Amino acid sequence: MLPRLPAALALLSALASALPVRRAPTAALSSTSISAFRPYTHYASAAYCSAAATRAWTCGAACAANAGFVPVASGGDGDSTQFWYVGYDPALETVVVGHQGTDPRELLPVLTDIDLVPAPLSAALFPGVASSVLVHSGFRDAHAKSATDVLAAVQSALSQHGASQVTLVGHSLGAAIALLDAVYLPPHLPQATFKTVVYGLPRVGNQAFADYVDAHVGSLAHITNNRDPVPTLPGRFLGFHHASGEVHIDASGAWMACSGQDNTSSECSTGAVPNIFVGDVGDHDGPYDGVTMGC
Ligand SMILES: *[C@@H]1O[C@H](CO)[C@@H](O)[C@H](O)[C@H]1NC(C)=O
Repeated sequence: MLPRLPAALALLSALASALPVRRAPTAALSSTSISAFRPYTHYASAAYCSAAATRAWTCGAACAANAGFVPVASGGDGDSTQFWYVGYDPALETVVVGHQGTDPRELLPVLTDIDLVPAPLSAALFPGVASSVLVHSGFRDAHAKSATDVLAAVQSALSQHGASQVTLVGHSLGAAIALLDAVYLPPHLPQATFKTVVYGLPRVGNQAFADYVDAHVGSLAHITNNRDPVPTLPGRFLGFHHASGEVHIDASGAWMACSGQDNTSSECSTGAVPNIFVGDVGDHDGPYDGVTMGC
């Protein structure tokens, strides 16, 4: 015999409340998750300041935003070698490594050179990485100029502060150098854990490089802003490919987690900027949650 209607409804509603709540899947980040990126955004911005300014941590707004930072070393000349700095953030309990980027008007000709061929990494700096892993030779050479100095500075920062966490940040060319550091540093510092947070990252290497990054770079977020063309360059037709970890900011300022490598959804950079004519180079420097890159 069927239960009467009110009893049946009560049963259904009891069943429904016992079931897990299913929400529509969304890749949008909460405002709390977006705010958690803030310190790293300011750190990436501070990397545009001179080595003297970051060594003293008197670089204006970008330094003041992370006022507790304890600088350890800095270098570069902002010309032939990009500026870099290393220090310790006691609140985040991490060593921070920042790499300077470049003006997108200088970067675009380098990224759109159709004669570009991905090249092998230096065997001296990257022993043990398969020869099938290829990268942009300009990024490789820019990284090599500061690599050993940065490693020495990170080693002393870790021991001075009894730290075990290292966070690598950068914007633009600095993002590419930071990603190469994320591959270069860990084998030298097996006791440390690494996190990489980069902004306006161009494609650094080929499919094998993207796979290598996915397999070896523990925590990577590469944040792309609206119609910035830089993350879509060099073109995939030249053999370049992004690793996973994209977080895309759309025109409304919403942040979207883009799963997979080089996600072609229109909610992610590759899909939002299908060709360079759709791109807006003005989006390269931000704003990233209100922060515009530069010193
Ligand atoms: C691309 O990212 C979107 C989120 O914006 C996600 O829904 C989709 O599954 C991703 N596609 C792939 C192939 O991972």
